[in-house]
Amino acid sequence: MSVSKEQIVSWLKATADVMSENKTYLTELDSAIGDADHGINMNRGFSKVLEKLPTIEDSDIGNILKTTGMTLISTVGGASGPLYGTFFMRAGMALASKETLSNDDVYTMLNTGMEGVISRGRASVGDKTMIDAMMPAMAAFKNTLDNGGDLLAAMKACVQGAEQGMKDTIPLQAKKGRASYLGERSIGHQDPGATSSFLMLNMLLQALEA
Ligand SMILES: Nc1ncnc2c1ncn2[C@@H]1O[C@H](COP(=O)(O)OP(=O)(O)OP(=O)(O)O)[C@@H](O)[C@H]1O
Ligand SMILES: [Mg+2]
Repeated sequence: MSVSKEQIVSWLKATADVMSENKTYLTELDSAIGDADHGINMNRGFSKVLEKLPTIEDSDIGNILKTTGMTLISTVGGASGPLYGTFFMRAGMALASKETLSNDDVYTMLNTGMEGVISRGRASVGDKTMIDAMMPAMAAFKNTLDNGGDLLAAMKACVQGAEQGMKDTIPLQAKKGRASYLGERSIGHQDPGATSSFLMLNMLLQALEA
């Protein structure tokens, strides 16, 4: 199965919709351990991406993703704008001039994006960040492909990994970002960024299933 440009554009549109629908929820999660703006940030960034998509959706997938990343960086302040911006910019750079994506390309997109977030934010698994959702997700994707699974099976495993990783942030003490200033008081709350990462990957699954 190869992934079309239209499916990538649908993913980005669905991500904008899901961030808008979950704006209050993500902001509530961030009010417990942060500064109550994660939903506002994600919605602001992806609304701008949605506005920009008609002007770029005919270009190649690499450029669509790169422009998405640049838009997030330029419209969202705080930690998450530059981090998600880097995710999409690096993903786009790795897929320069592609018109369709193979299964391996989809892995490259997700894993290179995550590596960009790690190089920018220096978070490790267990620090209670979006990396706690992304790392098990990308590992499950690769593991499924390596064991002969198809793209949809890999993407389903990816989303399950992200969901588990998201839930697993609840008992963790934050080591990065504003939540880390709370010390032990950050324990017992789900990380907002891990939650938005799960939502974003779940929308990719939906776009691939369509
Ligand atoms: N260094 C980091 N690496 C990866 N993710 C991070 C890092 N710092 C924060 N995050 C993620 O960003 C989320 C917070 O995003 P938000 O949009 O609220 O930005 P913010 O308020 O500027 O963040 P913060 O105050 O945590 O720096 C956290 O829940 C966490 O998942
Ligand atoms: Mg915040």
